[in-house]
Amino acid sequence: MQNKGYPTRFIEELKQKCDIVSTISRFLTLQKKGKTYWACCPFHYEKTPSFAVNEVEQYYHCYGCGESGDVIKFIEKYENLTFMESVKYLADSVGLKLPELEQSNQDLKQMKLKAEVLRATNLAMNFYKECLKTPVASQAREYLNRREMNQTIVDYFNIGFSPDWTSLISYLEKNNVSREVMKTAGLIEFNDSGRAYDVFGTRLMFPILNSFGDCIGFTARTLDPNSKFAKYKNSTQTLIFDKSRTIYNINSIKQLKKEQKIDYIIICEGTIDVIAMYKAGFRNTVACMGTAITNYHASQLKRYSDKIILCLDGDDAGQNATYKAIDVLSEQGLEVKVVKLKENLDPDEFLKKYGAEELKSTLLNAEDCIEYKLTSLAQKYNLNDSYQKNKYITNALEIISKLDSNAEREIYLKVLSKRVFISVDVLRRDLSGSKLTKPSNPLKAEATPEKPFVVRQEGNTKATKFIIASIIHKQPYAVEDVRKNFKFKNSSYQNLYDFVVKCESEGKTYTISSLFDYFDVDNNPDIKEIIDFNFAEYGDTAEIYYNECTKKGDLPTLEQQKKELLKLYSQARENSQKIEILRDIQQIDKKINNIKDKKQ
Ligand code: GTP
Ligand code: MN
Repeated sequence: MQNKGYPTRFIEELKQKCDIVSTISRFLTLQKKGKTYWACCPFHYEKTPSFAVNEVEQYYHCYGCGESGDVIKFIEKYENLTFMESVKYLADSVGLKLPELEQSNQDLKQMKLKAEVLRATNLAMNFYKECLKTPVASQAREYLNRREMNQTIVDYFNIGFSPDWTSLISYLEKNNVSREVMKTAGLIEFNDSGRAYDVFGTRLMFPILNSFGDCIGFTARTLDPNSKFAKYKNSTQTLIFDKSRTIYNINSIKQLKKEQKIDYIIICEGTIDVIAMYKAGFRNTVACMGTAITNYHASQLKRYSDKIILCLDGDDAGQNATYKAIDVLSEQGLEVKVVKLKENLDPDEFLKKYGAEELKSTLLNAEDCIEYKLTSLAQKYNLNDSYQKNKYITNALEIISKLDSNAEREIYLKVLSKRVFISVDVLRRDLSGSKLTKPSNPLKAEATPEKPFVVRQEGNTKATKFIIASIIHKQPYAVEDVRKNFKFKNSSYQNLYDFVVKCESEGKTYTISSLFDYFDVDNNPDIKEIIDFNFAEYGDTAEIYYNECTKKGDLPTLEQQKKELLKLYSQARENSQKIEILRDIQQIDKKINNIKDKKQ
């Protein structure tokens, strides 16, 4: 069921061929420690690795964000593909043929439709490219000349031209693309009298490629300077095109990364800016499709470089976007710098006027993003007016307060100090007095002292969870219990247990990875929790705790527990702790008395 139509045997074979460690190594740098491979998690921002890949069990788990899965799930998440697409992707990578699937399958239908839509957009791209070479496109070619886009650039960016409102439709029909697919692909619309038309009619076409080099949509510029329609028209949201997830020129960045280390990626606003930058030798440039920069954009870019230079337009809209983008990008751990081109030129105009060398030195002098924030904020206030200056300082301190470390805060306090002519000492006092400062580690501040294991046995659920997790994760002390006919009240736990028992009885060694084939892990929080179970918390006491959990009511164990609790009680300093321990002792006493009563 979880294999969405594929025979389990096929999925097993696929997973055998696509070893999780070597597959993930293609995307992340893994470091082996003991039996586990570690990396910084690609699914959340972190500085120290908590993303673990288990070779024996063939699964990954991030102790930071809780993400876990097998090799297929990794590809789904990492490449933003569906289950079916990931299976195909992996099968292709090892030359495994996909088995036939039932037609009725909903996912299969969706995948087929997506493939048809993608075929349509790719065909449209080729059609527009061809049209640019024909006589009807003379005006378009003149325009490109005027903007200094030569043939190499036209070819590299697959630039094309939509000659009219209907030619695309006949071309696609000849290639067996239905109108329904054209519509789903966002290529056509219907007018009031029901006639289909090319939505990009008479425009210059810039295809948008995904990281695999497929055309997923277009941005199209009008050639008519007096047009009453929008200067640029972008593809609408479709099955394959989502602006908030799309980065123009990402395929080229992916290619560049294969050739060399990318020191930084430049983000600008316009498609034409990216092209002009490329032509001037800045191949490391991208644009977002007229939307704010999202977390998704940030995490995509992070794969290729850890530094970003924002080079958005100098107008208010561009500067506001810069301000917001700084937060989104920094949150993902990217180092962000900002360039504001002189005279509010955009990169295309700047290059034309001042040339590549001048732009290069401007990039080298890119402003650190916090300094940029402090500077652009200052422009909103008249610093000669005491009241306004004070307001500025309050807001500037808020920016500084959000920084991660004291060292960073100190650096920017100095910057601020110079700007407002107030000593760093005074500003620092204001900062710490304002309750703005974020504790260096909020988790630590709230953490209670770790409880000793004897106190942990609070209830049945925790113990049960620990038992099933120990068995599933093949903890050495639990291995024997596969033969013990455990009964679990929780049916998911029972299913897990039965699965392991079955494997054992058939002489098969099961892996955590195979659980993803037999259970709908994502939709079963109980099972997911067991797969993600973290034994680290139990340290050396895991085995003792396990024995305790499985031998509940064992008199010697209870008496031993009580002894330890009494010792803890005598050591406890705080009353609240003492009360808690006393409560535990009472519980144990009750159990001991119960057993003794029964014996009498
Ligand atoms: P050129 O005039 O061709 O050099 O483009 P530009 O990038 O300089 O355009 P402009 O500075 O006017 O706008 C910046 C960006 O905003 C463009 O690159 C587009 O992404 C977007 N944009 C501009 N005009 C429109 C429009 O009419 N519709 C839409 N959807 N986006 C636009
Ligand atoms: Mn421009």
